[in-house]
Amino acid sequence: MAEPWWRTGVVYQIYPRSFMDANGDGVGDLRGIAQRLDHLAWLGVDAFWLSPCYPSPMADFGYDVADYCDVDPLFGTLADLDALVAAAHARGLRVLLDWVPNHTSDRHPWFVESRASRGAPKRDWYVWRDPKPDGSPPNNWRSVFGGPAWELDAATGQLYLHSFLKEQPDLDWRNPAVERAMHDVLRFWLDRGIDGFRIDVIQRIAKHPELPDDPPKEGDPYGQLWLCYEENHPDVHAMLRRIRMVLDAYDDRVTVGEVYLLNQAEVARYLGGGDELHLAFNFRFLQAPWSAERFADEVERMERALPPEGWPTLVLSNHDVPRHATRYDDPVHGEARARLAAAMLLTLRGTPFLYQGEEIGMRNVAIPPERLQDPLARTLHPNLARDGERTPMPWDGGPGAGFTTGEPWLPLGPDADRRHVAAQRGDPRSLLSLYRALLALRRAEPALHAGDYERLHAPKGVFAFERRSGDARAFVALNFAGEPCEVAFEDAPVRRALSTDPDRALPSRSGRVALGAAEGLVLVLA
Ligand code: GLC
Repeated sequence: MAEPWWRTGVVYQIYPRSFMDANGDGVGDLRGIAQRLDHLAWLGVDAFWLSPCYPSPMADFGYDVADYCDVDPLFGTLADLDALVAAAHARGLRVLLDWVPNHTSDRHPWFVESRASRGAPKRDWYVWRDPKPDGSPPNNWRSVFGGPAWELDAATGQLYLHSFLKEQPDLDWRNPAVERAMHDVLRFWLDRGIDGFRIDVIQRIAKHPELPDDPPKEGDPYGQLWLCYEENHPDVHAMLRRIRMVLDAYDDRVTVGEVYLLNQAEVARYLGGGDELHLAFNFRFLQAPWSAERFADEVERMERALPPEGWPTLVLSNHDVPRHATRYDDPVHGEARARLAAAMLLTLRGTPFLYQGEEIGMRNVAIPPERLQDPLARTLHPNLARDGERTPMPWDGGPGAGFTTGEPWLPLGPDADRRHVAAQRGDPRSLLSLYRALLALRRAEPALHAGDYERLHAPKGVFAFERRSGDARAFVALNFAGEPCEVAFEDAPVRRALSTDPDRALPSRSGRVALGAAEGLVLVLA
């Protein structure tokens, strides 16, 4: 049976505000994305995921949805989205949307109706409770974005639950009417030809039905709590199976869950027996420090946790975490490390997710305090603002970096005049060319896009593994260390080789191979 596209393919995340601005207002839009589709086709990815572009007051930059079935005028129209999907499909690119099931905007008509009165027909679409007799919130839950997870609605005297901002009230997924309405949202997009969904904080939709207090972490100086009851209730699996049934009525669609749990066995349970999510992000891999052993451990931990038919994901950057070229930067080996990270991401077993700009080695941009936009700067701490990883994509060396003819909503990086797509596209030694070469190699070689994974013995500081699909085999050696080393593989003739170091001579046999500092080497055996 042919492998489904979402196992062999590579997905590219677009953050619409910062990809390409076609109308000159300084904010990216859907027509802009359509203008740049050739970049994705040329690069060689299979699909892209659009962070939310629905109507939104933008309290959390689109993750506060005011209408699940339309497009915010800032980004264009529903017709623009249809045109983008058609243009993507014409290039063989699939399109995933970001589905935000846990919460809506407080301006969503459902919430407006819900807060109208205690007896409102949609009152029970959200989680409303009376305050305790002393006026305090119904339990001790905290918002992920700071402060209590409850907000008092003065007019009705009750509080509503919000896992994130108070502008993002949580839906009550225990109400079958909510579940039906959210399934209808999926069908609305599936009927329009959307190929699947990235699902926002899916572990949050099932809370403990009695909303008990979370136990305090003993001795924690900040009074932190164990998150026991506001997420990952076992009932989530039945909800996921019903979501999957909606998807399975269509051909070839996919769900990838932002299962923000750091226990990989728990994350793996979100795939069920092939009847829940298709894929789930692996945040322990994303959070690993620059260490061969740590990455190897995280890969093995996930491999052990997955059900037999399960398939991993590989992500190093997204719109919520500092870019990995910054996290792994180093005064001497910074560029080499970004190249090594690309080789790891695109040769391990699993579906890689690239974040816009990583293919040119974008770094986080230091944003002056007065230009910070992310609400976390206010609700948590300016250092936790996510703006630095959300800055506009530099396309060329012209004004506005080819991103906008206006004033960009966030500043361009200080290196945007040098580090941009046009400069790297024509340079065979660039990071962009390396990404493209890795993507082409991965696509051509079944060992790389479909093969099993086995870790191989290697010196300290080196992560080495074999990928194997039938007779097709590939060896990969990733030297995380700052010094050269030597790796011993089984000796065999090499049919194709790729190094992250554009200057090295490529070996024609595996056997003993030398690796430079922060070099990654892929050897496809004959
Ligand atoms: C997810 C999104 C993040 C958003 C949050 C609340 O973690 O990735 O950007 O702020 O959910 O919706």
